[in-house]
Amino acid sequence: MFVIDSTVRKTLLVVAAFTFGIFVSLIFFTPPSPFPQTTSSMHSSLEHGQEIWSVRRIIEWRPCKWWLQSKPDALPDETNGYIRVDCYGGLNQMRRDFCDGVGIARLLNATLVLPKFEVAAYWNESSGFADVFNVDYFLEQTKGFVRVVKELPAEIASKEPVHVDCSKRKGQFDYVETVLPALLEHRYISITPAISQRRDRYPVYAKAALCQACYSGLRLTETLERKSLELLQAIPKPFLTLHLRFEPDMVAYSQCQYTNLSSSSMEAIETARGERKPWTGETARIWRSRGKCPLTPYETALILQALSIPSNTNIYLAAGDGIMELKGLTSVYRNVFTKSSLLTGEDFKKMHGNTKAALDYYVSINSDSYMATYFGNMDKMVSAMRALKGLFKTLFLSRRAFSVLSSQGITGKKLSEALWQCHKDDFVMGIGSALPECFCDFKL
Ligand SMILES: *[C@@H]1O[C@H](CO)[C@@H](O)[C@H](O)[C@H]1NC(C)=O
Ligand SMILES: *[C@@H]1O[C@H](CO)[C@@H](O)[C@H](O)[C@H]1NC(C)=O
Ligand SMILES: *[C@@H]1O[C@H](CO)[C@@H](O)[C@H](O)[C@H]1NC(C)=O
Repeated sequence: MFVIDSTVRKTLLVVAAFTFGIFVSLIFFTPPSPFPQTTSSMHSSLEHGQEIWSVRRIIEWRPCKWWLQSKPDALPDETNGYIRVDCYGGLNQMRRDFCDGVGIARLLNATLVLPKFEVAAYWNESSGFADVFNVDYFLEQTKGFVRVVKELPAEIASKEPVHVDCSKRKGQFDYVETVLPALLEHRYISITPAISQRRDRYPVYAKAALCQACYSGLRLTETLERKSLELLQAIPKPFLTLHLRFEPDMVAYSQCQYTNLSSSSMEAIETARGERKPWTGETARIWRSRGKCPLTPYETALILQALSIPSNTNIYLAAGDGIMELKGLTSVYRNVFTKSSLLTGEDFKKMHGNTKAALDYYVSINSDSYMATYFGNMDKMVSAMRALKGLFKTLFLSRRAFSVLSSQGITGKKLSEALWQCHKDDFVMGIGSALPECFCDFKL
């Protein structure tokens, strides 16, 4: 198996890629894309002339064999207690924390209770786990990997779980040491998983439980799937999903300065900033060159053009209605669609944050290609699910490359060429879609 640590990947690659390329391609089949190949109808003036997707990749991320092929170890006869995962934030952040929680529950030989999804006031949100995900499907798919119950046993059903706080813990956080004693004492606890942890020490059965639950166990409720399918069918094919986040809150949060925005956008950003002031001077410059600043629609269109994405491409915008300066994109790419432009029914109007985010997620994991201007929770989840489905036209636009190049005063055709080059390298090497836990890199 050619699963290679990232630090030695490059060196080994040069030597090994050629030698093993043919051999590997004979062993591992490439799953076919369910959609026909996009044909480029408009030819770029750039020398390469072809869409980025036509470049041959060397590395591809696929589910690790130890997950897909290993039979889960038998679950211990006794449970050490019950764990509820308390999840906060947007849909994909909650999902990430829940996935971590499944691994933890299995690590501790505990039984999982359905998680609590935060009711996000700012979204006027009231949908819980069962409103977004299909509970029976989850139970079915995780059978044998981890114990899950829909209902608590009578003796603890009336109790609230004891909260064990690990959310702020960083680095090496040992759940067996820190959380197991509380679990054994109270029998029913709730946790929000730590920001980061040493999962490399997990036994394989705990990692497999996480992978199985997170990537094979979660599908949307039937109602949401039906609505999502309706949306998917309404989008002209083939299409690119673009996750573009240039919204006032995102820009305010980034603490970046922009000089070329309309006054209404500037006002919206100022309002969203509150106490959080933007960086200025040299700090602002360094901040930007580290790739911390969200791409504007105009910059995004520039990169898309550099990647030879034809201007008549159908683009689904996976985003809310709050994107600023959208003209910067739509003046070049005219076939742009959003869920609110395609769905008008009463049932759609009643949808809020989580369920609306679920629609975007569904379209994103089923689109011919996917590009994001950011590598956030949604993008990580989507990229993993696409890899699982064998959809490899997935790319993360480099804010860093863009800012570094433009700060050097590079413009026009030169900028295009440089942007093409660095994104091509990322695409060829599978960089950006590196999915650490359940996915392994395979050389093609
Ligand atoms: C969980 O059970 C396995 C055996 O099934 C055992 O090896 C492991 O030590 C147990 N872990 C805990 C935290 O109880
Ligand atoms: C929140 O949602 C409820 C029902 O879903 C609705 O009646 C109410 O007007 C909404 N409030 C805001 C501020 O959107
Ligand atoms: C500013 O934005 C407009 C369109 O929004 C664009 O035409 C112009 O080239 C931009 N200028 C710079 C310096 O980016």
